[in-house]
Amino acid sequence: MTLEAPRSILIVCLGNICRSPMAEGALRAAANKAGLDLRIDSAGTAGWHRGKPPDRRGIATARRHGVDISGQRSRPIVPDDFSDFDLILAMDADNLSDLKRCRPSGARAEIALYLEFTTDVPASVPDPYYGESRQFEAVFAQVADAAEKLCRKLANGQGGSK
Ligand code: 4NP
Repeated sequence: MTLEAPRSILIVCLGNICRSPMAEGALRAAANKAGLDLRIDSAGTAGWHRGKPPDRRGIATARRHGVDISGQRSRPIVPDDFSDFDLILAMDADNLSDLKRCRPSGARAEIALYLEFTTDVPASVPDPYYGESRQFEAVFAQVADAAEKLCRKLANGQGGSK
């Protein structure tokens, strides 16, 4: 998959309290480090946790890596997101198929897996919600590594292409 360098990226998981908030924080940190002007947000395919801060295990994990995600609040994805963002990145295959199903026809956003541009075999980021702190650490390492790689590609003018 190739696409023009995105100016705005929305990261989506199921609840928007575990994976996508950590990925939002990691991607914002990587974009700042790379000097990229990127608008970054996150949302959930479900609205169960609307208005809530990220899971405390995610906040603690991100903080250990110098990233403050405590100010984020969960929100469900809305139809306007598909025209407000250039690129929507799903954490896992279920999120991806949910996004494809609810995408309004004619919406401009590209939809892809979060790991699509930075791993040889596009993989899903596992849900740590029912896990322990070490699962949150593993997810943070995975999303932060991908964020750095994606921002390096974007900074080098390679767009999001593999
Ligand atoms: P997330 O994790 O999609 O990474 O935010 C989950 C959060 C909440 C639930 C499931 C997954 N839940 O069932 O409430």
